[in-house]
Amino acid sequence: MKRTRFLRLAAVASALSAPILFAVSCKPAASGPGGGGAGGKSGKVIGFSQSNASENEWRTAETQSILTEGKARGYEVKLADAQGDQTKQIAALKDFIAQGVSAIVLSPKTTDGWEPVLKEVKAAGIPVILVDRGVSADPSLYATLIASDFVAEGRMAGEWLVKKTGGNGGVIQLEGSAGADPAIERRKGFEEALAAAPGLKILASQSGDFNRAKGKQVMEATIKAHAKAITAVYAHNDGMALGAIEALKEAGMNPGADVQVVSIDGIGDAFKALDAGTLNCTVECSPILGGMAFDAVEKIAKGETLEKKTTVQDRLFDATNYKAEMPNRKY
Ligand code: AHR
Repeated sequence: MKRTRFLRLAAVASALSAPILFAVSCKPAASGPGGGGAGGKSGKVIGFSQSNASENEWRTAETQSILTEGKARGYEVKLADAQGDQTKQIAALKDFIAQGVSAIVLSPKTTDGWEPVLKEVKAAGIPVILVDRGVSADPSLYATLIASDFVAEGRMAGEWLVKKTGGNGGVIQLEGSAGADPAIERRKGFEEALAAAPGLKILASQSGDFNRAKGKQVMEATIKAHAKAITAVYAHNDGMALGAIEALKEAGMNPGADVQVVSIDGIGDAFKALDAGTLNCTVECSPILGGMAFDAVEKIAKGETLEKKTTVQDRLFDATNYKAEMPNRKY
């Protein structure tokens, strides 16, 4: 890793670690006005449960967006990083109840397993704003979900690939973390699109956990198993696609030319790879959710009713249009 990049990541990591410690040591706050009626210091203390703050650049950008927006609007945001462990995430929600936060922003790792703790949160009168991923739970247990349409993202990626390849070839699918909403739905959307092209076959489909290093490892194994039959890679996020590109290059293959690479997220490094010609297409999934999350917090505090879901709009970038967007990519 380059020194500047390392220093940037180290600065973010140290900025993230302080609120985690604070959240754990904070005593329950006194009751006061707030969205769910549970109080918190003057109703401006928010618990933010992040599934895995160091998973990839996308998640770093999402965490920063929530923390920065909260600060700008005068909130104290207590960040609890579950480091990829749903049990820790559930424990963090219970801590937030004990601390009397006025609302909880939750980015859930998986879709399942939330009902019992969400019932406890509801009983404590604390509203929950789901960001970036949904859960399979009774919708009355949360106030709103702010997220992209992951099925549509997968479908856009699939339709792009069908068109680009003429509907022929062998695809490796690098899936996100097992049980996560975007992994389930991006697979569904992509496979729906491929149903229109029987000549374009999925040779292997395996999880790379939304992580660059794991994406690379899985790609190395699939190259050994399928070698020259691979003409395309579809990764559920840019991180895994960038790992796969490294593996393809090391195997003497030519990503971007002999092997079409398509992925999802639209992070800065994906734009650099589009520019280098090693990545062919990325479907945006915006991590800049802080503004919408705190709009929801404030509407709830005013007693307004929210839509159950706000869908974040995504765009597709490939060689035809990435250049104009490149200077705007800050994450
Ligand atoms: O839930 C959004 C997904 O999760 C992003 O695509 C990914 O990079 C992340 O970790």
